[in-house]
Amino acid sequence: MKISYHGHSVVKIETNGKTILIDPFINGNELTDLKVDDEKPDVIILTHGHNDHVGDTVELAKKNDSLVIANHELATYLSWQLVKTHPMHVGGAYEFDFGKVKLTQAFHGSGLITDGNEIIYMGMPAGVLLMIEGKTIFHAGDTGLFSDMKLIGERHPIDLAFLPIGDNFTMGPEDAATAASFLKAKKVVPIHYDTFPPIKQDPHKFVEMLEDSEGQVMKAGDVIEY
Ligand code: NI
Ligand code: MN
Repeated sequence: MKISYHGHSVVKIETNGKTILIDPFINGNELTDLKVDDEKPDVIILTHGHNDHVGDTVELAKKNDSLVIANHELATYLSWQLVKTHPMHVGGAYEFDFGKVKLTQAFHGSGLITDGNEIIYMGMPAGVLLMIEGKTIFHAGDTGLFSDMKLIGERHPIDLAFLPIGDNFTMGPEDAATAASFLKAKKVVPIHYDTFPPIKQDPHKFVEMLEDSEGQVMKAGDVIEY
């Protein structure tokens, strides 16, 4: 399995001939190395309805007939745009042909902001646990620190966790380091930083703060293989 990072919260997983994209924010993401035209995801997983996470989902999904996995409200909204969806919700798990997906809670917003100055309710934000090829990968989505991360860590042996460190909208580096120990994650990769001025961070300082987990700073395009 190949797991790669592509700036902001974009993570790609390639497993058994399938490509999974998490939070494919490509157009408008100055840190990404991806191009919408080049991406052919079989599956897209969304953590929440904010524009910097839904990103180019509709275009990608329509072009590639991708299955979009998201919370029920966001999935329903996308299905109205003729995108193939699988709705889930916080606490629920489902076995797909590529592996198992479970949504966890996240403390954040999830409204989709439209061009018409409207904010459309998109259900609760989530983190995503992926059980693939015997490994457990956690993408925290956007969230503040919460102590039930301990419960997630107790229930699931996390091999690799992608945690937001940008501060301002999500956990900052110190809270994210505490999250890493709550989750008992073997390896941690910082995400959701440097994309916009209020979330500028030094990811190397974050990695130095980690006590129990191994940290790895990934540049856009970097790959972890299991
Ligand atoms: Ni957000
Ligand atoms: Mn965000």
